[in-house]
Amino acid sequence: MLKFIIFLSVLTTLFLVTNINGFLFSKHAKCQISVYKGGKDFSGEKIMANKSFVPYLKSIGAVAKGCKVRVHVIDSYKQLKTPTEYVLSSQMPLALGRGIHFNLQGPKGSTVCNNLCMTTRSWRTLPEAACFIDNVQKKGVKFTEPNLLHDGYTTQLSTSELEALKVATQKLCAPKTKGAKG
Ligand SMILES: *[C@@H]1O[C@H](CO)[C@@H](O)[C@H](O)[C@H]1NC(C)=O
Repeated sequence: MLKFIIFLSVLTTLFLVTNINGFLFSKHAKCQISVYKGGKDFSGEKIMANKSFVPYLKSIGAVAKGCKVRVHVIDSYKQLKTPTEYVLSSQMPLALGRGIHFNLQGPKGSTVCNNLCMTTRSWRTLPEAACFIDNVQKKGVKFTEPNLLHDGYTTQLSTSELEALKVATQKLCAPKTKGAKG
């Protein structure tokens, strides 16, 4: 009988501990991805980024200004249909809110290096574009051809760590549908 009571109280304690943890965890785990207002050094799509990518975005903006170009954003954080959806490694920074796809415009919106120019690596022959891409990398931003700027975080994690982080991020940031439990 005593054994049974001890067993029962251990079980109760375990139950309480896990629930309190679950409660605290759900209170603190929030989607870390929000809109980044880049100002006039950026154009195109609205930028959605994780907090940890914001310092990189600031460097990107500063370099763009110095090189007299504007970063034309094509894509940033991408909400997947389901958190477990497969993403190519080249898309992973976007699924985590830690990268942007881009091309380059002039300060007033003229074309400097459009998508075709990026894919054909023609930026190398354009002084403003080369200035931007060379200098942004000197600031620690990673450039992956043809048109991805990111923080390099995905290259430091294993495939399974990345997958877990992607699933967690995508779950936390999924738009809440009306009536669904938070
Ligand atoms: C988002 O940023 C926070 C704070 O810097 C960090 O703890 C978290 O791991 C980041 N999430 C992703 C998916 O990179």
